[in-house]
Amino acid sequence: MLLAARSVQQLLRPCPFSTALIPFVRPCHAHRVAFSSATVLSASGQPRPWTGLQSWRVAPANEDRVWGPHGPSPPPTPPLEPDLTTMTAASLAECAALVLSTSDPLAKSTLSHLAYTRWCRREILVGTASPPHRPARPDRPLLVPPKEVPSHKSSGLPLNAYMLHNLAHVELNAIDLAWDTVVRFSPLRDELGDEFFADFAHVADDESRHFAWCSQRLNELGFRYGDMPAHNFLWRECEKSSEDVAARLAVIPLVQEARGLDAGPRLVQKLVGFGDHRTSHIVAKIAEEELAHVAVHDRLACIVAMEREFRIEQLISLPLIALCSDELGTTSRVAALLLIG
Ligand SMILES: [Fe+2]
Repeated sequence: MLLAARSVQQLLRPCPFSTALIPFVRPCHAHRVAFSSATVLSASGQPRPWTGLQSWRVAPANEDRVWGPHGPSPPPTPPLEPDLTTMTAASLAECAALVLSTSDPLAKSTLSHLAYTRWCRREILVGTASPPHRPARPDRPLLVPPKEVPSHKSSGLPLNAYMLHNLAHVELNAIDLAWDTVVRFSPLRDELGDEFFADFAHVADDESRHFAWCSQRLNELGFRYGDMPAHNFLWRECEKSSEDVAARLAVIPLVQEARGLDAGPRLVQKLVGFGDHRTSHIVAKIAEEELAHVAVHDRLACIVAMEREFRIEQLISLPLIALCSDELGTTSRVAALLLIG
C-alpha cells in the first residue's frame, strides 16, 4: 500500500544542508552509519563525505576475486590483464554496454573487473554509449514474479545454497544496475562529473567480486547459479528510474542495499546455525563492503539533490514513491525519501 503524501509529510523534518526535508523514521543500521556521516557539515556549510569514502575511492582495483581458505584472495594465476574483448570498448560507457550485453554471469563478472581495471589505469575516459534495452541474462535461472520464487523447502536446495543463490542473484542485478547507470547517464558527464562514473564503475567491480565469491561457494557445495528460479523484481523496479538520475540514485540503495544490509546479520546467524561458517564469512564480508556503497550512493544523491536544488516536497509529488511497487513495503519507501534528504 502506498504511503499517503500527508502521512509522509508528518514524518519529515528540515534537512540541515538543503531545503529538503528528511524523515524522522529510523533508517536501517547501514543508513544510520552512512547517512549520519554524509550529513556532517563542513565549515563552508557543505556536507562532508563519509570518512571512509576517500580511501575507498583511491584504493587500487581489488584483485581478491576468489574466496581462499582464509578469506578473500587473489586467483592462483596472475591477475587478469584487460583482454581483447574489453579493448574493443573505447570508453567506460562502451565497457558498460559490453558488460550489459554479456549474458554469461561469470563473463559479466570478469569483464566488469577488466573494465574497472582499465579505468583505474587511466586507459579510458567516460565517453558515451547507448544501453541495451535490458541486460543480457543466461537461460537459467528462470526469472519469475517474486511470489513464484520457490521457498527454501520447495527449492530442493539446502539452506546455505538457497541463501547463496538468492544473494548471487542480487549481486548479478547489482552489477548490471551499476553499469546501466554508467552508460545510461553518460551523456550527463559534464553535469555529473567523472567521480560519479568512477564510483559506479567501482561499485560494479565490487559487486562482480561478490558474485564471483557466491558462485564459487555454490560450486563448492555442488550447485551453481541458475539451479532454481529467481525473481524479476529488482530489474523491473530499476527500469522505472531509467529516465532520471535523481530517481535512480534513490532507487538503487533502496532496492538492493537497504533491504539486503538489514538482512545481512540475520543471514550470517542463520548460516552459523546451519553450521556453514565458510559461507557465513562470505556473507559477512559482502555485507561489510556494501556499507561503502550505501555511503557512496547517499553522498552522490545528496550532491545531485543540491545541484538540482531538488526539494523533497517535489520529490513526494513526483512519481518516486510510485517507483517503488507495493512489494517493497512502506518502510523501504520511506527509506527512499531519506536518501534524498
Ligand atoms: Fe554486493
